Amino acid sequence: MGYGNSSRPRPPRPIRRPGPATLLPYKLQPMSTRLAVELCGIPLRAPVLAASGTFAYGVEFAEILDLHSIGGFVVKGLSREPMPGNPPPRLWETHGGMMNSIGLQNIGVRAFVRDKLPHLAAYAGTAVFANVFGYTPEDYVEVVRVLEDAPGLAGYELNVSCPNTRHGGIAFSADAGLLAEVVGMVRRVARRPLVVKLSPNVARIEPLAQAAEQAGADALSLTNTFIALAIDARTRRARIGAGFGGLSGPAIKPIALRMVYEACQAVRIPVVGIGGISTGIDAAEYIIAGATAVEVGTANFWDPAAVGRITGELDRFLEEENIASVAQLRGTLRLKGD
Ligand SMILES: Cc1cc2nc3c(=O)[nH]c(=O)nc-3n(C[C@H](O)[C@H](O)[C@H](O)COP(=O)(O)O)c2cc1C
Repeated sequence: MGYGNSSRPRPPRPIRRPGPATLLPYKLQPMSTRLAVELCGIPLRAPVLAASGTFAYGVEFAEILDLHSIGGFVVKGLSREPMPGNPPPRLWETHGGMMNSIGLQNIGVRAFVRDKLPHLAAYAGTAVFANVFGYTPEDYVEVVRVLEDAPGLAGYELNVSCPNTRHGGIAFSADAGLLAEVVGMVRRVARRPLVVKLSPNVARIEPLAQAAEQAGADALSLTNTFIALAIDARTRRARIGAGFGGLSGPAIKPIALRMVYEACQAVRIPVVGIGGISTGIDAAEYIIAGATAVEVGTANFWDPAAVGRITGELDRFLEEENIASVAQLRGTLRLKGD
């Protein structure tokens, strides 16, 4: 289809690899008021954010898309001290997705405050969330304490998918008691809104969602990546240097969407939907499942302007559906043909 009548074979189209040199900064049409939402007291000009670990510290994307025109972003996970990350290979592409084991490499919270955060002051009106992680509850508290003294952040997102080294490496996110402990301790020092990012690597998400809510979370975000394994049959080795990796991208979307729906049913606080979003329609599906906002992760790897594009596509979807405000779409799922 679409090749015309010529019998001459066409030369293959050159593959266009987007990069800062060839891409103009993505500029949305003047933002419509349809997209504005409030997330636990934080005004967002649009409900589409970039997900942690896929958008560096934000500033690095300023040449690729107009950071003034997106709802916001979550910066790379921050720890007490700088971390070098895991041995390579750290990424492996799978069918419809990607596996990673970056090992939470980051410059450390103090370098973030000193070297990155001042550049983000230029984007007032774009919500910047600091993603925080640690291996003991005190690690989380210390990172948040440092951030509390710094201006320019809309809130915190706690990555609780890390192993608690004091409890034999059980992930905070896998045990309601450990989760409540870390959320409660951070709650006591955090004056900014607290979003708790849940892991999908649990049998039931509801008890964890409720534990985070009761311990003082202002919102939940889910999901993080799904623990996965890729094998090279020839070498009998794992494709990822660290062994297991976290699966993300379109492959996880139906499972993450189900978990977001379940979490929305279980708590009163707002939920941010994450997992495999690469189009405005994907974002709309999460909102229909009950999410107040969404985050876009892996799509940023193949389309660095994805957050802006997806925001525009969501706006167009609302216009086509005659929906005056994105809040009217929230939670409108009819699950069983009722
Ligand atoms: C390379 C990579 C690094 C990530 N780093 C973090 C991180 O530092 N903190 C965190 O909470 N989530 C991290 N994530 C998880 C994403 O934020 C997101 O929850 C997950 O990828 C699912 O969304 P997606 O399918 O849109 O990618 C990372 C994901 C990827 C692919």
